[in-house]
Amino acid sequence: MISFQTTRLDIRPLVLSDAEDVFEMRRDPEVAKWGSSGTPDTTISQTIDWMLSSCGPAASDTNDTTISPKKTYLKLVFAIRELQPSTIFPEPKVIGTIGIKRLAMPLGPVGSNRVRWELGYGFHVGAWGKGYATEAARGVMGHFGEIKWVLEGQGQGDDAVVVADGLWAATAEENLGSQAVLRKCGFGFVGEFVDELGRKNLDFQVLA
Ligand SMILES: CC(C)(COP(=O)(O)OP(=O)(O)OC[C@H]1O[C@@H](n2cnc3c(N)ncnc32)[C@H](O)[C@@H]1OP(=O)(O)O)[C@@H](O)C(=O)NCCC(=O)NCCS
Repeated sequence: MISFQTTRLDIRPLVLSDAEDVFEMRRDPEVAKWGSSGTPDTTISQTIDWMLSSCGPAASDTNDTTISPKKTYLKLVFAIRELQPSTIFPEPKVIGTIGIKRLAMPLGPVGSNRVRWELGYGFHVGAWGKGYATEAARGVMGHFGEIKWVLEGQGQGDDAVVVADGLWAATAEENLGSQAVLRKCGFGFVGEFVDELGRKNLDFQVLA
């Protein structure tokens, strides 16, 4: 299992027992509006559905919290906790999530076999503005090679796809905070696209 700590954060694969904390974050419209659906979760079962479908092996099976090297699981989302409890979060709880997923290129032709590794994250509003997203993103980037190696099947690769170089991330045009995080982590702006919800997104890439 890939787990690690940064100066202030504990980062480990999300598991279903984290659902209550994650729901608390995902039910907040201020956080949800920047996510892929654009709307907040209204019930914990929506959060659990998201965890089961979008967060990778650890969150998909309560009995198995290790990463399985199945190629179907080309995603891994981590739970982020503060190492030192703070006044806002006195109990050690999940304050954010960050993940790496292998997804189709958003601008590729339909049916293209081009994919890319993409970084995504979100934090409880109480944790904003402390540099945590930057710290967590840098931490995950430091483990990017290991994460890819495990998710791709421990080095076996996949002949059916062409993987774009580096690590990518997309943010809504108005999401200046997220763009600042990406730039601080070394990402550069590479283009624009319109997502499924009609939102203009800015596309970023870093060569890892
Ligand atoms: C975006 C988000 C992850 C940032 O988390 P964070 O822990 O506050 O980020 P950091 O503190 O590491 O860095 C934020 C940077 O953005 C800057 N910033 C924040 N809001 C800004 C704004 N409106 N305009 C310009 N810069 C802004 C901050 O000043 C900071 O830069 P600095 O360190 O140079 O001062 C957090 O706000 C969040 O979870 N938002 C909702 C979900 C989301 O947007 N996810 C990303 C989807 S792409």
